[in-house]
Amino acid sequence: MKVSEQHRSVVFITGASGGFGLLTSLAFAESGYFVLASMRDLAKKETLLEKARKQGVEANIECVCLDVTKQDDIDSEIPDIIEHFGNIDVLVNNAGYAAGGFTEELPLEEWRQQFETNFFGLIAVTKAVLPYMRKHQRGTIINLSSISGKMALPGLAPYSASKYALEGFSEALRLEMLPYGVHVVLVEPGSYQTDIWSKGMDHFNSYPESPYRDKNESLLKIVNHIAKTADNPEEVARLIVKVAQEENPDLRYPIGKNVRTMTRLKKLLPWRWIERVILKKISPRK
Ligand SMILES: NC(=O)c1ccc[n+]([C@@H]2O[C@H](COP(=O)([O-])OP(=O)(O)OC[C@H]3O[C@@H](n4cnc5c(N)ncnc54)[C@H](OP(=O)(O)O)[C@@H]3O)[C@@H](O)[C@H]2O)c1
Repeated sequence: MKVSEQHRSVVFITGASGGFGLLTSLAFAESGYFVLASMRDLAKKETLLEKARKQGVEANIECVCLDVTKQDDIDSEIPDIIEHFGNIDVLVNNAGYAAGGFTEELPLEEWRQQFETNFFGLIAVTKAVLPYMRKHQRGTIINLSSISGKMALPGLAPYSASKYALEGFSEALRLEMLPYGVHVVLVEPGSYQTDIWSKGMDHFNSYPESPYRDKNESLLKIVNHIAKTADNPEEVARLIVKVAQEENPDLRYPIGKNVRTMTRLKKLLPWRWIERVILKKISPRK
């Protein structure tokens, strides 16, 4: 660890090798935080460090090796960091991916892996940090949920289920920790241009004989279209920093095109109408 200042706010981010995690690391560093940018493959750190150098904030970032599904990584890194810095002021639980495919065709192992990363891994990291935040009576935990945690789509059932689980977990944890001055927050983005759309989507392609073939192809087209046209992820990084700076943050921060409208419509419209619209959207064009 190269930082000797003990009093600078320290933020720990999971999944900082790309996407929101990388941009959020840079945004915190620019705002004067000391950033522990964790990633499961340290060979990827150069992308982040190169950008940090260009922005003149390299001294505010330290890369740490941590796979959220590996308890050994968590057990060795978090206590070390706490010993050096005294506390983690902000934890950003960002690491995650989306497993695409229809339930019948997705091996159970794929489901388990989705939850290991997006849900149990996040809980494991959180549990490692909680005792220190509680003791210091301060801290903010920002969990990256998704519009998929408010509204589920066909072909993304494991992802949606993991984000719905995260929503429930975060509501409960917030109530557990508020009396100790620790704030738990959900950031709920819509669709943003990151690598999430190109990872975890292999099942849409893997079965030429699939009874879902047309739908798989149609969903893959939609995913590819989103990957090209989605919003700029920097706005999510900026929001995360803003939330971390709030003294009394809300529980939920939806962000992105149509996210608020979609959640409102879900509350207002009969569910059968919504089903019809979604099924029409994914049905292959003749
Ligand atoms: N992009 C969107 O439209 C969107 C919308 C709503 C919510 N989100 C959420 O935002 C978060 C970040 O996603 P992103 O869009 O930035 O995707 P991304 O560009 O694919 O980045 C995901 C990050 O998570 C890391 N990761 C995956 N599994 C991990 C593990 N077991 N341990 C540690 N790190 C791991 C990846 O590392 P590797 O490089 O090693 O794979 C990568 O750094 C996710 O939780 C996602 O669900 C994204």
